[in-house]
Amino acid sequence: MSKFMDWVDARFPATKMWEDHLSKYYAPKNFNFFYFFGSLALLVLVNQIVTGVWLTMSYTPSAEEAFASVEYIMRDVEYGSILRLLHSTGASAFFIVVYLHMFRGLLYGSYQKPRELVWVFGMLIYLALMAEAFMGYLLPWGQMSYWGAQVIISLFGAIPVIGNDLTQWIRGDYLISGITLNRFFALHVVALPIVILGLVVLHILALHEVGSNNPDGVDIKKHKDENGIPLDGIAFHPYYTVKDIVGVVVFLFIFCFIVFFFPEMGGYFLEKPNFEQANPFKTPEHIAPVWYFTPFYAILRAVPDKLFGVIAMGAAIAVLFVLPWLDRSPVKSMRYKGWLSKIWLVVFCISFVILGILGVLAPTPERTLLSQVCTILYFAYFILMPFYTRLEKTKPVPERVTG
Ligand code: HEM
Repeated sequence: MSKFMDWVDARFPATKMWEDHLSKYYAPKNFNFFYFFGSLALLVLVNQIVTGVWLTMSYTPSAEEAFASVEYIMRDVEYGSILRLLHSTGASAFFIVVYLHMFRGLLYGSYQKPRELVWVFGMLIYLALMAEAFMGYLLPWGQMSYWGAQVIISLFGAIPVIGNDLTQWIRGDYLISGITLNRFFALHVVALPIVILGLVVLHILALHEVGSNNPDGVDIKKHKDENGIPLDGIAFHPYYTVKDIVGVVVFLFIFCFIVFFFPEMGGYFLEKPNFEQANPFKTPEHIAPVWYFTPFYAILRAVPDKLFGVIAMGAAIAVLFVLPWLDRSPVKSMRYKGWLSKIWLVVFCISFVILGILGVLAPTPERTLLSQVCTILYFAYFILMPFYTRLEKTKPVPERVTG
């Protein structure tokens, strides 16, 4: 075996890569619950790709046959229903895991210097993931697939001058048709997965270049032993590979429970109108995007003007990209930041959740007002960040991790 590895290593850096990224990658020893979600995101990504490839074997991307081919997968293809539900539940699981992963970043200042690029690559993944989910949702060609896509694509029509041409260019037709379905299929199955995989590689390479942050936000490279190994670091493999397996098992228990017993999740993971085939002549009573888009949808609806609504929605995502440059705090972790940062993080999270709930519900004057308040709070968290992170009194950060 070792002779074989010598042969390989002389031609390809297999052992070097294994050591650099696993057995000699020293991660802080105080990782907690929130550090499970990076590896879980990888797990869900693999699940989506594997189940997606197998679904593609029996799915037909045409307006005439798409809906029936999904029914065929659910009823006739061996293990087809499990494959499909693993994929549809996986989409929601992806966003749950990624939102918790991003929250960890906010909590421990993981986006701060020198991890700005880790965060920016992460945001690009998030953007690509939203596009991936949006396009995948058209494929079953149900009522909500059709009308959801109709609402979102028509938003581009609000852009002055080029709006109308742009919507037509996206659809490839005067209305959403088989042509739109075909191009969304190509992007969902081939183009975007490649982009996401590439970005994940860049994300992890950037992280391993600077090393992981931790719940204390302490730089573990400051204190090394005589061999140059950080005193507060432990080898990723075997310590964190084994620890992550615990997270994987717990996650799979919950995930499989939902897949087998509640795949529709009361209409939140699979929406009820989507059990009816797309009908361009019949608008569903209430059109709402899938839950993971609803905070941004609520921001869109909170603004009375369509163009400014679209701008606000775009800005709500764009502002996350510049987060590393908005936080001016001398400390990373929320553990040592002042109470202003803590209050604003709580306000931000509550506003995000309320917006998410409002985005599912039909608008009323009271709900619109509430969504306007939450939209202002959402943006205030970012816009005021350079000020409150500078003004507040921080606690002293320990030299070594506290466990
Ligand atoms: C497909 C989606 C994603 C995958 C597979 C992924 C994977 C990972 C992995 C494996 C790690 C190292 C383990 C960990 O710290 O949990 C990590 C770290 C990190 N990720 Fe992601 N990630 C994804 C999306 C995102 C997104 C959307 C963001 C934020 C916009 C993000 C921001 C970060 C940050 C800041 C770190 C460093 C955390 C620290 O050192 O404290 N990631 N990611």
